[in-house]
Amino acid sequence: MTKTMQAAVLTAPGHFTLQTRPVPVPGPGEALIRVTRVGICGTDLHIFHGRYAADSLPMVPGHELAGRIAALGPGVTGLEVGAKAVVDMNIGCGHCYWCRRNEILNCPQMRQIGITADGAFAEYLLVPARLVLPAPERVPDAVLALTEPVACVVRAARKAQVGLGQSALVIGAGPVGNLHVQLLRLLGVAPILVSDLSPDRVAMAVAVGADRGISNPALLRAAVQEATEGRGADLVIESVGHPALYAEALTLMRRGGHLAAFGLTGPDAVLPLGILDTILHETSVKGSVAGMGQDMHDALTLLCHGRFDTSAFTRAAYPLEQIQQAFDSSPDRPADLKTQIVMA
Ligand SMILES: NC(=O)c1ccc[n+]([C@@H]2O[C@H](COP(=O)([O-])OP(=O)(O)OC[C@H]3O[C@@H](n4cnc5c(N)ncnc54)[C@H](O)[C@@H]3O)[C@@H](O)[C@H]2O)c1
Ligand SMILES: [Zn+2]
Ligand SMILES: [Zn+2]
Repeated sequence: MTKTMQAAVLTAPGHFTLQTRPVPVPGPGEALIRVTRVGICGTDLHIFHGRYAADSLPMVPGHELAGRIAALGPGVTGLEVGAKAVVDMNIGCGHCYWCRRNEILNCPQMRQIGITADGAFAEYLLVPARLVLPAPERVPDAVLALTEPVACVVRAARKAQVGLGQSALVIGAGPVGNLHVQLLRLLGVAPILVSDLSPDRVAMAVAVGADRGISNPALLRAAVQEATEGRGADLVIESVGHPALYAEALTLMRRGGHLAAFGLTGPDAVLPLGILDTILHETSVKGSVAGMGQDMHDALTLLCHGRFDTSAFTRAAYPLEQIQQAFDSSPDRPADLKTQIVMA
């Protein structure tokens, strides 16, 4: 008899329906994951509100997952049924130019779990086994489910080549901005400044590692100048997604500084970056998107060794049956940086 599972299907923007579906059976090269905990991220909220991946509906979102390996398809080696695991959400073809360079989002065949393929707001999830990262038994599922968002900031820091004694400004202290701050602290960046319109979010970022927080935009420039002896920051990370903040970021970094383009804007937004200024000041701008491959491995390692304060990310939890309520109320609790769905 076919086993069944519950899956939360986003049938239309704003509407989840719990459906009973057959538990998938792993084929060659596949792993079946029994999902235990899944985070709701900004991208999920965009999908929920019909602002992103609307073509994928109806679909099961969810990509920030922790779980256990429930079954392995024929020929899969190196993984053990029963082990805790997290999953790299980025499915590339595995052999093209971009996949070999770990630039999977540029792969012409790229799909993403929970965005263009059914995701983890379901009791079971079928994935390519090569995307499964086994995790230690001792680490709580709530912490493991943060691997994907941490991988995003790991990738951004890697692309920015930021390190010891460099200064940084993180614009935006939302969930991801908070993780940027924590990682910069781990990397020996000093001083770290953070700005957000919400004094509570600023205070939370200061509590986990920022040296100075600014919630009044009128005071930001002076704060950056003061903290960097008038030079501007070595690195500015835009972690909000507003074109005006990108423009401001260019003026808050030092000559020869680096802008990490991270917050997602609309498709037509452009940077007001002078060519001659770029040449003469050796300015650099680098985008980074998602976290994949080594980024996931590094994020998992750091989380497993307690390098991140995850308390504000793991408090708010709802059972799968209340996923609608979890999404409806997600933006209303500023003290919680994340809401997670817990499977029975
Ligand atoms: N590039 C990537 O890999 C990647 C990965 C994850 C998220 N993102 C993007 O990063 C951004 C941040 O993600 P998040 O989940 O923290 O978003 P969020 O929307 O939850 O948080 C954004 C924060 O920015 C603050 N903010 C708004 N206007 C501001 C302003 N003028 N100055 C300073 N702060 C301001 C808000 O108060 C909020 O705390 C989003 O655009 C998201 O889409 C990118
Ligand atoms: Zn996410
Ligand atoms: Zn590829």
